[in-house]
Amino acid sequence: MSTTLSFAPGAAIIAGGSGGIGAGICKRFADNGMPVVFTYHSSEDKARAVQQEIAAQGGICEYERVDLSQPAQVESLFAKVRERHGRIAHVIYAAGPHFEFNFIGSIPDSDWLHVVNADINGAFHLIQNAVKTFRSQGDGGNLIAVITSAVERVPVKDIMSAAPKAAIEMLVRGVAKESGRFGIRANCVGPGWINAGLGKKGIEEKLDEKTREHIRKTTIPLQRFGEADDIAYAALFLCSQQAGFITGQSLAVDGGLQL
Ligand SMILES: NC(=O)c1ccc[n+]([C@@H]2O[C@H](COP(=O)([O-])OP(=O)(O)OC[C@H]3O[C@@H](n4cnc5c(N)ncnc54)[C@H](OP(=O)(O)O)[C@@H]3O)[C@@H](O)[C@H]2O)c1
Repeated sequence: MSTTLSFAPGAAIIAGGSGGIGAGICKRFADNGMPVVFTYHSSEDKARAVQQEIAAQGGICEYERVDLSQPAQVESLFAKVRERHGRIAHVIYAAGPHFEFNFIGSIPDSDWLHVVNADINGAFHLIQNAVKTFRSQGDGGNLIAVITSAVERVPVKDIMSAAPKAAIEMLVRGVAKESGRFGIRANCVGPGWINAGLGKKGIEEKLDEKTREHIRKTTIPLQRFGEADDIAYAALFLCSQQAGFITGQSLAVDGGLQL
């Protein structure tokens, strides 16, 4: 007998759903029948394009502008989604700020503070509202944070990606430990080189073909860059009822880069 993934009823909130990875997650969750409400921060055009593509396929999809570093905006997002859709079943953090690659010794203080505030505090506000909502609904829920596979393999000049994501990973593991007894599961997905969003920009703009080939052949055992769908399917599985005994884990989706 074949197995099809099944999901608890309710909407999915996808923070950063207008981004390269977030948009992939929105599409796959909507394909699987979940009402999707995603957030963007500065580019409404990108958000509208994602919403229209999903709606054209018959999916239920809405978007809201939210600055995740502002707790009142995050609280208001959860209140709106509950009012419109009743139950929230899945909350996914797939947002993150842009920043310049830099050696640790050369990072300007203002860049560091901006990234830490947007990423760690943004994720914290989302995670805290998810836990409160799941508790008040009384029948569990799924939390996923998109982090980076670099939390296990220290990257050069990319600490502003890895350090905040290591903090977010610990927050997620904390939720898994503290709130498992309420049926709340919390996991992370760790992308490697993904040909979408920030990764696509880096691959296309910062690397020449020779360097791209070198990275593919010598650092990634599966010898390709990933796609947004590689991350989306991992998040989908972790939110499914078939993953019902998995919590507090980080799944690297990086073609083996982390090894
Ligand atoms: N792509 C990769 O190869 C890769 C690899 C490892 C880890 N990651 C991580 O995966 C996550 C998603 O990456 P991505 O490539 O999809 O990035 P992306 O395309 O740049 O998307 C980022 C998303 O976050 C939103 N955002 C930015 N700042 C925000 C803020 N202060 N408050 C609320 N939302 C904000 C953006 O909205 P606007 O566009 O409207 O501003 C957008 O929706 C990031 O955390 C990134 O570090 C990506």
